[in-house]
Amino acid sequence: MKFDDLGEAANEQLPIGIFDSGVGGLTVVRAVRRALPHEDIVYLGDTARVPYGSKSPSTVVRFSCEDTQFLLHHHVKAVIVGCSTVSAWALPILEQRFEVPVFGVILPGVRAALEQTRNGRIGIIGTQGTVRSLAYDRSILSHRPDAHVFSHACPLLVPLVEQGWIHHPVTQMVLKEYLEPLLRHRIDTLILACTHFPLLREAIRQVVGEEVILVDCADTCARFTHQRLEELHLLNSNRRRSGHLQAFVTDEPERFTKLAKRFLGSRIEPALQVVLPQM
Ligand code: DGL
Repeated sequence: MKFDDLGEAANEQLPIGIFDSGVGGLTVVRAVRRALPHEDIVYLGDTARVPYGSKSPSTVVRFSCEDTQFLLHHHVKAVIVGCSTVSAWALPILEQRFEVPVFGVILPGVRAALEQTRNGRIGIIGTQGTVRSLAYDRSILSHRPDAHVFSHACPLLVPLVEQGWIHHPVTQMVLKEYLEPLLRHRIDTLILACTHFPLLREAIRQVVGEEVILVDCADTCARFTHQRLEELHLLNSNRRRSGHLQAFVTDEPERFTKLAKRFLGSRIEPALQVVLPQM
């Protein structure tokens, strides 16, 4: 069964594929389930190879092609790259190489930040890979050349989230180290440019205070996905059904399933461990 062979009506009933290096993409799953509750989701967390944020661009591209190929084997109608690092380095390649629509997290986040900033001073926190790519900076400045962009790599945050240390004092200390320099630049908007970071939203809020606008890349990506699927006539039109989530991981699934339950706030079927196709 191939995406194109099915016709519009059948294609709309196929699941949405979402992938990330680990649990971070679950923030996108959570947001997509809220925005599109009738859609089935197939999720892949490449937990055997997390983090992607410290890998070279060519490795990130290779891993993300394998992740996308895996989701296509599950007959998804669209792929959401639930990872900023992959969106930064590989999105154009995935769009070119694969036949389904592929959506990333950067453009929706940038648009939301530009809509909300009052003083044009925008902070970005992400992985080393995302910050090094300058993908957010370029996108912001191409839309608004007079903006001031301050980006900061926060490599310790992904392992802390993968460990489940969401409200841990160590995480709070690390956040202070990372965020205080950005606050000194008088940012009024902060893009959480890594899909792991919305899980730290409350802890981040405590450090930056109430005034700074937090842009959650998962929420903005879910809204963008809704809009694009509608434009492509790929929204599931059966409004009576509740979407089903099936998660796959590349390392042992127990810890992932436990964290997923906690992050999604609902029961989920245990994740299944898989081996990805090598490319
Ligand atoms: N959650 C991912 C991102 O948005 C990846 C983090 C990582 O694997 O380093 O960048």
